[in-house]
Amino acid sequence: MLEDTKYVKGGENSDPTTGSLTTPVYQTVAYRHPVGDTYRYSRERNPTVEVLAGKVAGIEGAESGSCFSSGMAAITTTLFALLKPGDTFVLQRDVFGRTIRFAREFLSTWGVKLVIPDVGNKELIEAVNRGCNLVFVESVTNPALRVTDIERVAEEAHRVGAKLVVDNTLPTPVNFKPLEHGADLVVHSGSKFLSGHYDVVCGIVAGPKPLVERVDELRKTLGCSLDPHAAYLAIRGIKTLGVRIERINNSALKVAHYLAGHSKVAYVRYPGLPQDPENTTARRLLRGYGGVVSFCLKSESRDAPETLMTKLKMIQPANTFGAVDTVISHPATMSHRNLTEEERQRIGVPWGLLRLSVGLEHVEDIIGDLDQALNQT
Ligand SMILES: Cc1ncc(COP(=O)(O)O)c(C=O)c1O
Repeated sequence: MLEDTKYVKGGENSDPTTGSLTTPVYQTVAYRHPVGDTYRYSRERNPTVEVLAGKVAGIEGAESGSCFSSGMAAITTTLFALLKPGDTFVLQRDVFGRTIRFAREFLSTWGVKLVIPDVGNKELIEAVNRGCNLVFVESVTNPALRVTDIERVAEEAHRVGAKLVVDNTLPTPVNFKPLEHGADLVVHSGSKFLSGHYDVVCGIVAGPKPLVERVDELRKTLGCSLDPHAAYLAIRGIKTLGVRIERINNSALKVAHYLAGHSKVAYVRYPGLPQDPENTTARRLLRGYGGVVSFCLKSESRDAPETLMTKLKMIQPANTFGAVDTVISHPATMSHRNLTEEERQRIGVPWGLLRLSVGLEHVEDIIGDLDQALNQT
């Protein structure tokens, strides 16, 4: 099956029982007491949820998948399943804040030795080189949009006998497939580009069967299973993933070029821009540069980011990214509000930075809205 076909047909091809063209929502807790190894109880296994798991595994080029009630449930369950007290865990510094928080507040007190190197591929690889059991990174971090050199990190992790888990939420498998570059396991917040409509919270893990089974067993015990209706929405969203990301890649590049040329913008972070510090790595690893564009205002006024957001007419401020509607966020007061100024500076999130998630509106409307707002800021 070719890539574009996998988004539409992967893991499903009409319901075997009724012939229904769409995957039915098996909204049930339990099943008539079965004979043999089949469905018994929906916290453990549900047919709708399993279609989603198979679909994402297929598009990531993985043997097997498992679904979770959120991206964080997928991440925390994976880390608990793969680590044990006494292990050394290397965690990239600029991953999603809750991932860091979980590692600092729970894994450390559980007896895991936590290593969080400074940002950058070189620092990360040096930390892995000193020895560890597990490495966790994001393929593209946000909002600073650093591109992780998964090939080099995987090589170094395997050399020291560690496994590499990659959060691939931001690029999506359309733009990057971590398993093809040496990662051992991929995790997703399916709440973003995968489902793509800001209407479902879910998480997915994909990889080789023995590793996914370890994580899946713990999911059944922790109980962070995905609801079948949420799985249905995610399946529906993924059918258009290929065309959405293709359009979003194109629009985001145009928006990044526009912002880079605006007199009120100090700099833009977008790996697809030729002048971006990540462009060389991005061109080597990514098939497209994704829908998130970060930019820093020239104005040093504390009010400038808020003023810009309130002047926007179509683009809504929201603490998320990755769907059909363009949204904007101010990391310093939203996603990164719990960090000190010094910690924010250290990961490349100054006060004036804004994160834009480009959607499917006409790109001229997106640029038009930004233009009128920037001109009033
Ligand atoms: C890169 C990344 N990973 C994981 C998560 C957590 O996912 P969820 O919100 O589905 O729990 C997020 C949420 O924003 C994220 O941005």
